[in-house]
Amino acid sequence: MSLLLEQLVLTQSQLFLKDVIEGLRLDQKELSSKYFYDAEGDLLFQQIMASEDYYLTRCEEDIFRNKTSELTLAITNRGTLFDLIELGAGDGSKTLFLLKELIDQGEDFDFFPIDISKNILEILGQNLQESLPELSFHLTEGDYFEALREIVTASHKRKVVLFLGSNIGNMSPGESLEFCRHLSDLLSPGDLVIMGFDLRKNPATILRAYSDREGITSKFNLNLLRRINRELGGDFNLSQFEHYQSYDPISGACKSYLVSLSDQKVTIGDQIILFKENEPIYMEVSQKFSPEEIDALAVNSGFSVIANWYDSKKWFVDAIWEVQ
Ligand code: AVJ
Repeated sequence: MSLLLEQLVLTQSQLFLKDVIEGLRLDQKELSSKYFYDAEGDLLFQQIMASEDYYLTRCEEDIFRNKTSELTLAITNRGTLFDLIELGAGDGSKTLFLLKELIDQGEDFDFFPIDISKNILEILGQNLQESLPELSFHLTEGDYFEALREIVTASHKRKVVLFLGSNIGNMSPGESLEFCRHLSDLLSPGDLVIMGFDLRKNPATILRAYSDREGITSKFNLNLLRRINRELGGDFNLSQFEHYQSYDPISGACKSYLVSLSDQKVTIGDQIILFKENEPIYMEVSQKFSPEEIDALAVNSGFSVIANWYDSKKWFVDAIWEVQ
Protein backbone atom coordinates (compact mmCIF):
# COMPACT_ATOMS: atom_id res chain seq x y z
CA MET A 1 0.00 0.00 0.00
CA SER A 2 1.33 3.48 -0.79
CA LEU A 3 2.15 5.76 2.09
CA LEU A 4 -0.52 8.23 1.07
CA LEU A 5 -3.20 5.57 0.95
CA GLU A 6 -2.03 4.18 4.28
CA GLN A 7 -2.39 7.57 5.87
CA LEU A 8 -5.90 7.87 4.48
CA VAL A 9 -7.04 4.59 5.97
CA LEU A 10 -5.00 4.50 9.19
CA THR A 11 -5.42 6.95 12.04
CA GLN A 12 -2.31 8.52 13.54
CA SER A 13 -2.34 6.13 16.47
CA GLN A 14 -2.77 3.10 14.17
CA LEU A 15 0.26 4.31 12.19
CA PHE A 16 2.21 4.71 15.43
CA LEU A 17 1.28 1.16 16.48
CA LYS A 18 2.20 -0.25 13.07
CA ASP A 19 5.61 1.49 13.05
CA VAL A 20 6.36 0.38 16.62
CA ILE A 21 5.44 -3.28 16.04
CA GLU A 22 7.27 -3.44 12.69
CA GLY A 23 10.36 -1.87 14.27
CA LEU A 24 10.38 -4.21 17.25
CA ARG A 25 9.87 -7.29 15.05
CA LEU A 26 13.11 -6.63 13.14
CA ASP A 27 16.18 -8.74 13.92
CA GLN A 28 17.86 -5.49 14.96
CA LYS A 29 15.05 -3.85 16.91
CA GLU A 30 14.46 -0.14 16.27
CA LEU A 31 12.03 2.66 17.08
CA SER A 32 11.67 5.90 15.13
CA SER A 33 12.93 9.07 16.83
CA LYS A 34 10.10 11.00 15.19
CA TYR A 35 7.86 9.59 17.94
CA PHE A 36 9.95 11.18 20.74
CA TYR A 37 7.88 14.34 20.64
CA ASP A 38 4.72 13.93 22.70
CA ALA A 39 4.02 16.68 25.28
CA GLU A 40 6.47 15.11 27.77
CA GLY A 41 9.08 14.59 25.00
CA ASP A 42 8.75 18.23 23.89
CA LEU A 43 9.43 19.30 27.48
CA LEU A 44 12.43 17.00 27.80
CA PHE A 45 13.83 18.24 24.49
CA GLN A 46 13.48 21.84 25.70
CA GLN A 47 15.46 20.78 28.81
CA ILE A 48 18.11 19.19 26.57
CA MET A 49 18.40 22.42 24.56
CA ALA A 50 18.92 24.39 27.77
CA SER A 51 21.44 21.92 29.24
CA GLU A 52 25.14 22.56 29.69
CA ASP A 53 26.30 19.60 27.59
CA TYR A 54 24.02 20.04 24.56
CA TYR A 55 25.91 22.77 22.71
CA LEU A 56 23.97 22.69 19.40
CA THR A 57 21.19 25.14 20.27
CA ARG A 58 23.56 27.70 21.79
CA CYS A 59 25.81 27.53 18.71
CA GLU A 60 22.95 28.04 16.27
CA GLU A 61 21.52 30.79 18.44
CA ASP A 62 24.95 32.48 18.26
CA ILE A 63 24.60 32.45 14.45
CA PHE A 64 21.03 33.76 14.44
CA ARG A 65 21.84 36.45 17.01
CA ASN A 66 25.11 37.70 15.49
CA LYS A 67 24.59 37.14 11.77
CA THR A 68 20.99 38.40 11.64
CA SER A 69 21.60 41.12 9.06
CA GLU A 70 23.57 38.82 6.71
CA LEU A 71 20.83 36.18 6.98
CA THR A 72 18.09 38.71 6.39
CA LEU A 73 19.86 40.29 3.42
CA ALA A 74 20.38 36.89 1.76
CA ILE A 75 16.61 36.38 1.92
CA THR A 76 15.47 39.87 0.91
CA ASN A 77 18.08 40.92 -1.67
CA ARG A 78 16.05 39.37 -4.50
CA GLY A 79 13.44 42.05 -4.02
CA THR A 80 10.40 39.86 -4.70
CA LEU A 81 7.70 38.74 -2.25
CA PHE A 82 8.31 35.43 -0.48
CA ASP A 83 6.78 32.83 1.84
CA LEU A 84 8.93 31.74 4.79
CA ILE A 85 8.44 28.07 5.70
CA GLU A 86 10.04 26.24 8.60
CA LEU A 87 10.24 22.44 8.73
CA GLY A 88 10.35 21.13 12.32
CA ALA A 89 9.87 24.60 13.73
CA GLY A 90 9.67 23.50 17.37
CA ASP A 91 9.41 26.41 19.81
CA GLY A 92 10.94 28.77 17.23
CA SER A 93 13.47 30.30 19.62
CA LYS A 94 16.20 30.82 17.00
CA THR A 95 13.87 31.78 14.16
CA LEU A 96 12.49 34.62 16.27
CA PHE A 97 15.70 36.65 15.69
CA LEU A 98 15.20 36.40 11.94
CA LEU A 99 11.44 37.03 12.03
CA LYS A 100 11.92 40.11 14.17
CA GLU A 101 14.56 41.57 11.84
CA LEU A 102 12.41 40.89 8.75
CA ILE A 103 9.46 42.67 10.37
CA ASP A 104 11.62 45.58 11.57
CA GLN A 105 12.72 46.03 7.96
CA GLY A 106 9.08 46.21 6.90
CA GLU A 107 9.14 42.97 4.86
CA ASP A 108 5.70 41.71 3.87
CA PHE A 109 5.72 37.90 4.17
CA ASP A 110 3.82 34.97 5.67
CA PHE A 111 5.41 32.46 8.04
CA PHE A 112 4.46 28.77 7.79
CA PRO A 113 5.88 26.70 10.66
CA ILE A 114 5.42 22.93 10.18
CA ASP A 115 5.96 20.41 12.98
CA ILE A 116 4.95 16.85 13.83
CA SER A 117 4.14 17.91 17.39
CA LYS A 118 0.78 19.64 17.73
CA ASN A 119 1.70 20.49 21.30
CA ILE A 120 4.89 22.41 20.42
CA LEU A 121 3.05 24.25 17.61
CA GLU A 122 0.56 25.58 20.15
CA ILE A 123 3.44 26.80 22.30
CA LEU A 124 5.05 28.37 19.22
CA GLY A 125 1.77 30.06 18.26
CA GLN A 126 1.55 31.68 21.69
CA ASN A 127 5.21 32.77 21.53
CA LEU A 128 4.73 34.34 18.11
CA GLN A 129 1.55 36.13 19.08
CA GLU A 130 3.19 37.59 22.19
CA SER A 131 6.54 38.62 20.75
CA LEU A 132 5.56 39.50 17.16
CA PRO A 133 1.88 40.52 17.04
CA GLU A 134 2.37 41.96 13.51
CA LEU A 135 3.51 38.62 12.07
CA SER A 136 1.12 36.73 9.82
CA PHE A 137 1.61 33.00 10.45
CA HIS A 138 -0.11 29.69 9.70
CA LEU A 139 0.63 26.69 11.97
CA THR A 140 0.69 23.35 10.17
CA GLU A 141 0.84 20.01 11.98
CA GLY A 142 2.05 16.97 10.09
CA ASP A 143 4.36 15.51 7.51
CA TYR A 144 6.95 17.99 6.11
CA PHE A 145 6.50 17.22 2.44
CA GLU A 146 2.72 16.95 2.50
CA ALA A 147 2.51 20.35 4.19
CA LEU A 148 5.13 21.84 1.87
CA ARG A 149 3.29 20.56 -1.21
CA GLU A 150 0.09 22.25 -0.03
CA ILE A 151 1.85 25.55 0.60
CA VAL A 152 3.65 25.45 -2.77
CA THR A 153 0.35 24.74 -4.55
CA ALA A 154 -1.59 27.45 -2.71
CA SER A 155 0.82 30.35 -3.28
CA HIS A 156 3.11 31.24 -6.16
CA LYS A 157 5.44 33.52 -4.24
CA ARG A 158 9.07 32.42 -4.09
CA LYS A 159 9.86 30.15 -1.16
CA VAL A 160 12.43 30.33 1.62
CA VAL A 161 12.58 27.08 3.61
CA LEU A 162 14.26 26.79 7.02
CA PHE A 163 15.38 23.41 8.33
CA LEU A 164 17.38 24.25 11.45
CA GLY A 165 18.87 22.66 14.54
CA SER A 166 20.60 19.81 12.68
CA ASN A 167 17.22 18.16 12.33
CA ILE A 168 18.65 16.71 9.13
CA GLY A 169 21.04 14.74 11.36
CA ASN A 170 18.15 12.42 12.24
CA MET A 171 18.54 10.87 8.78
CA SER A 172 21.15 8.44 7.52
CA PRO A 173 23.42 9.88 4.76
CA GLY A 174 21.32 8.09 2.10
CA GLU A 175 18.08 9.40 3.56
CA SER A 176 19.34 12.99 3.81
CA LEU A 177 20.40 12.93 0.15
CA GLU A 178 16.96 11.65 -0.83
CA PHE A 179 15.33 14.26 1.44
CA CYS A 180 17.27 17.15 -0.15
CA ARG A 181 16.50 15.89 -3.67
CA HIS A 182 12.82 15.71 -2.80
CA LEU A 183 13.03 19.25 -1.40
CA SER A 184 14.67 20.72 -4.52
CA ASP A 185 12.10 18.86 -6.70
CA LEU A 186 9.16 20.36 -4.82
CA LEU A 187 10.64 23.87 -4.92
CA SER A 188 11.38 26.03 -7.97
CA PRO A 189 14.66 27.41 -9.32
CA GLY A 190 15.70 30.47 -7.31
CA ASP A 191 13.96 29.29 -4.11
CA LEU A 192 16.20 29.24 -1.03
CA VAL A 193 16.75 26.84 1.84
CA ILE A 194 18.62 27.55 5.06
CA MET A 195 19.82 24.39 6.77
CA GLY A 196 21.52 23.92 10.12
CA PHE A 197 24.22 21.24 10.42
CA ASP A 198 26.14 20.10 13.48
CA LEU A 199 29.80 19.80 12.47
CA ARG A 200 32.32 17.08 13.24
CA LYS A 201 34.42 18.08 16.23
CA ASN A 202 36.19 16.48 19.18
CA PRO A 203 34.41 13.11 19.56
CA ALA A 204 34.21 13.46 23.35
CA THR A 205 32.38 16.79 23.02
CA ILE A 206 29.82 15.21 20.70
CA LEU A 207 29.34 12.11 22.84
CA ARG A 208 28.80 14.24 25.95
CA ALA A 209 26.07 16.28 24.23
CA TYR A 210 24.06 13.05 23.91
CA SER A 211 25.00 11.38 27.18
CA ASP A 212 24.61 14.51 29.24
CA ARG A 213 25.63 14.53 32.87
CA GLU A 214 22.12 15.47 34.02
CA GLY A 215 20.68 12.35 32.37
CA ILE A 216 18.03 14.23 30.39
CA THR A 217 18.84 12.43 27.12
CA SER A 218 18.36 9.13 28.89
CA LYS A 219 14.90 10.25 30.09
CA PHE A 220 14.15 11.56 26.58
CA ASN A 221 14.82 8.11 25.07
CA LEU A 222 12.97 6.21 27.82
CA ASN A 223 10.00 8.54 27.40
CA LEU A 224 9.19 6.87 24.07
CA LEU A 225 8.66 3.57 25.94
CA ARG A 226 6.37 5.41 28.35
CA ARG A 227 4.49 6.88 25.39
CA ILE A 228 4.04 3.39 23.91
CA ASN A 229 2.72 2.18 27.27
CA ARG A 230 0.23 5.02 27.49
CA GLU A 231 -0.93 5.36 23.89
CA LEU A 232 -0.62 1.80 22.63
CA GLY A 233 -1.35 -0.20 25.77
CA GLY A 234 2.21 -1.37 26.35
CA ASP A 235 3.75 -2.69 29.54
CA PHE A 236 7.43 -1.71 29.18
CA ASN A 237 9.17 -1.69 32.57
CA LEU A 238 11.33 1.42 32.17
CA SER A 239 13.76 0.35 34.89
CA GLN A 240 14.64 -2.69 32.74
CA PHE A 241 16.07 -0.56 29.91
CA GLU A 242 19.17 1.60 29.93
CA HIS A 243 20.23 4.39 27.57
CA TYR A 244 23.50 3.80 25.70
CA GLN A 245 25.08 6.38 23.36
CA SER A 246 27.84 5.91 20.79
CA TYR A 247 29.72 8.20 18.44
CA ASP A 248 31.78 6.93 15.52
CA PRO A 249 34.20 9.69 14.45
CA ILE A 250 34.82 7.89 11.14
CA SER A 251 31.22 7.87 9.87
CA GLY A 252 30.10 10.89 11.93
CA ALA A 253 27.11 8.91 13.24
CA CYS A 254 26.11 9.55 16.85
CA LYS A 255 23.58 6.84 17.74
CA SER A 256 21.39 6.17 20.74
CA TYR A 257 20.11 2.83 21.97
CA LEU A 258 18.00 1.49 24.78
CA VAL A 259 19.52 -1.75 26.07
CA SER A 260 17.41 -4.44 27.72
CA LEU A 261 18.79 -5.23 31.19
CA SER A 262 17.25 -8.72 31.32
CA ASP A 263 15.55 -11.45 29.33
CA GLN A 264 12.03 -10.06 29.27
CA LYS A 265 8.67 -10.13 27.57
CA VAL A 266 6.84 -6.93 26.67
CA THR A 267 3.21 -6.79 25.62
CA ILE A 268 1.93 -4.01 23.34
CA GLY A 269 -1.81 -4.31 22.74
CA ASP A 270 -2.21 -7.93 21.68
CA GLN A 271 1.42 -8.31 20.51
CA ILE A 272 4.22 -9.91 22.50
CA ILE A 273 7.84 -8.83 21.99
CA LEU A 274 10.73 -10.80 23.51
CA PHE A 275 13.98 -9.16 24.59
CA LYS A 276 17.26 -10.85 25.43
CA GLU A 277 19.49 -9.47 28.17
CA ASN A 278 21.74 -6.76 26.62
CA GLU A 279 19.72 -6.63 23.42
CA PRO A 280 19.63 -3.04 22.04
CA ILE A 281 16.78 -1.05 20.50
CA TYR A 282 18.24 1.45 18.02
CA MET A 283 16.50 4.75 18.79
CA GLU A 284 18.09 7.66 16.92
CA VAL A 285 20.97 8.85 14.76
CA SER A 286 22.32 12.40 15.06
CA GLN A 287 24.66 12.62 12.09
CA LYS A 288 27.67 14.99 12.20
CA PHE A 289 29.01 16.60 9.02
CA SER A 290 32.20 18.05 7.59
CA PRO A 291 31.92 21.25 5.50
CA GLU A 292 32.89 19.18 2.42
CA GLU A 293 30.10 16.67 3.09
CA ILE A 294 27.59 19.53 3.36
CA ASP A 295 28.69 21.13 0.07
CA ALA A 296 28.54 17.73 -1.65
CA LEU A 297 25.03 17.17 -0.30
CA ALA A 298 23.92 20.51 -1.78
CA VAL A 299 25.42 19.92 -5.20
CA ASN A 300 24.24 16.29 -5.42
CA SER A 301 20.65 17.24 -4.63
CA GLY A 302 20.09 20.12 -7.05
CA PHE A 303 21.21 23.14 -5.04
CA SER A 304 24.06 25.63 -5.30
CA VAL A 305 25.72 26.96 -2.18
CA ILE A 306 25.17 30.70 -1.59
CA ALA A 307 26.84 31.12 1.82
CA ASN A 308 27.77 29.37 5.06
CA TRP A 309 27.50 31.02 8.45
CA TYR A 310 29.44 29.58 11.39
CA ASP A 311 29.20 30.19 15.14
CA SER A 312 32.25 31.64 16.87
CA LYS A 313 33.57 28.16 17.80
CA LYS A 314 32.96 26.77 14.28
CA TRP A 315 31.00 23.91 15.81
CA PHE A 316 27.82 24.47 13.82
CA VAL A 317 26.93 25.88 10.41
CA ASP A 318 23.82 27.34 8.84
CA ALA A 319 24.10 26.93 5.08
CA ILE A 320 22.01 28.85 2.56
CA TRP A 321 21.39 27.05 -0.72
CA GLU A 322 19.56 28.04 -3.89
CA VAL A 323 17.50 25.62 -5.99
CA GLN A 324 19.15 25.23 -9.40
C1 AVJ B 1 16.23 17.64 17.31
C2 AVJ B 1 17.19 15.97 15.95
C3 AVJ B 1 18.36 18.00 16.27
O1 AVJ B 1 19.67 14.92 17.14
O2 AVJ B 1 20.57 16.61 18.18
C4 AVJ B 1 18.85 15.75 21.11
C5 AVJ B 1 17.45 15.48 18.96
N1 AVJ B 1 18.30 13.76 20.55
N2 AVJ B 1 19.36 14.90 22.01
C6 AVJ B 1 19.59 15.95 17.81
C7 AVJ B 1 18.19 15.02 20.17
C8 AVJ B 1 19.01 13.70 21.68
C9 AVJ B 1 18.21 16.50 18.15
N3 AVJ B 1 17.50 16.99 16.93
